[in-house]
Amino acid sequence: LQTSTDINLLVNLLNDSKGQHFVLCDENTYKHCYPIFSQLIGKQIPPIIIQTGEEHKSIATCELIWQKLLKEHADKHTVLINLGGGVISDIGGFVAASYKRGINFVNVPTSLLAMVDAAFGGKTGINFMHFKNIIGLIYLPKMVILHTPFLNTLPQKHILNGFAEMIKHALIANNAQFEWYLTMSDIAACINKKSILESLAIKENIVAQDLTEKKLRKALNFGHTLGHAIEFASQQKGEEILHGEAVAIGMIAALKLSVKKLGFEAHKAKQIMAFILKYYHIPQWLKGCENDIFNAVIQDKKNREQQIRMVLLQDIADPKYDIKCTLHEIEEVWKEILNL
Ligand SMILES: NC(=O)c1ccc[n+]([C@@H]2O[C@H](COP(=O)([O-])OP(=O)(O)OC[C@H]3O[C@@H](n4cnc5c(N)ncnc54)[C@H](O)[C@@H]3O)[C@@H](O)[C@H]2O)c1
Repeated sequence: LQTSTDINLLVNLLNDSKGQHFVLCDENTYKHCYPIFSQLIGKQIPPIIIQTGEEHKSIATCELIWQKLLKEHADKHTVLINLGGGVISDIGGFVAASYKRGINFVNVPTSLLAMVDAAFGGKTGINFMHFKNIIGLIYLPKMVILHTPFLNTLPQKHILNGFAEMIKHALIANNAQFEWYLTMSDIAACINKKSILESLAIKENIVAQDLTEKKLRKALNFGHTLGHAIEFASQQKGEEILHGEAVAIGMIAALKLSVKKLGFEAHKAKQIMAFILKYYHIPQWLKGCENDIFNAVIQDKKNREQQIRMVLLQDIADPKYDIKCTLHEIEEVWKEILNL
């Protein structure tokens, strides 16, 4: 796997390949990113355009892409270029993994979340019967090309969405990066090519050591136990919350538990929580969602032997995974969070 900011690597890969090439986009990335990409690459590669949105990360959309590939007589040597956010890299990777038992694909992430997270690590897949990412495969892209100017057209709420994962990466693996964030006046100042490269390197490094999530990769779930539970509660309530916002609140819960259970320094936790709350807020509608939240926590896929297992921090850059937590402990911190 090669991650690079050098588009020439992709040009060379395409020149060396014997098959056809296609660029998978959604409506937004076709409009905003495809022209820039075509200019960078010096030609217009045929696009395959799918509808925008998480609800289109579906088997029906896969069928459309497979049909298009078959119609164009795409063979085993075809290269699929996923130009988009996490929806495009997830579904494009899955289509590539399954079409003719696997063709090469390249991710060119255009959202911040995809740049620091979704485009790496080989998890590909789709949603099915209201279950998120329930059908999928681990299948690595041939290359990931990073071009940060794509972010110029990304809506601010999606910047916030990706930044939560950058905070997570720094907290689990890079104290210096987190300290640097603290010195910045706003999110825009925290996000540049260097900080994105540092952030994605954390995920890449972890995935390189543990592709199939037996051990270390679990650390990437920091903030996600409560994060997923909050997303579940939002669906039940008919409220909208972005994944990153839910994870930000989930990280506050995990930090509070880290103080209580692993002796994480309280004043440091306070400082981190203040930083998170500068950009993310606790929505009012979460009050009264306790049942949904705790039911989802109990169902979390990281649990084992009916015990809740969470990723907590002993310190910044010192994550501990599979830490057993009781529902009572989680209920206590949840009460504190609702009063923040
Ligand atoms: N495979 C993994 O390891 C992994 C990790 C994290 C998230 N994910 C998946 O990623 C998805 C979320 O990713 P996302 O937030 O990027 O979603 P997304 O792909 O839907 O992109 C978010 C929105 O931004 C738009 N967009 C993207 N780039 C743009 C640009 N440069 N300019 C203007 N608009 C742009 C998209 O059209 C979309 O409306 C989820 O499906 C999640 O399950 C996967």
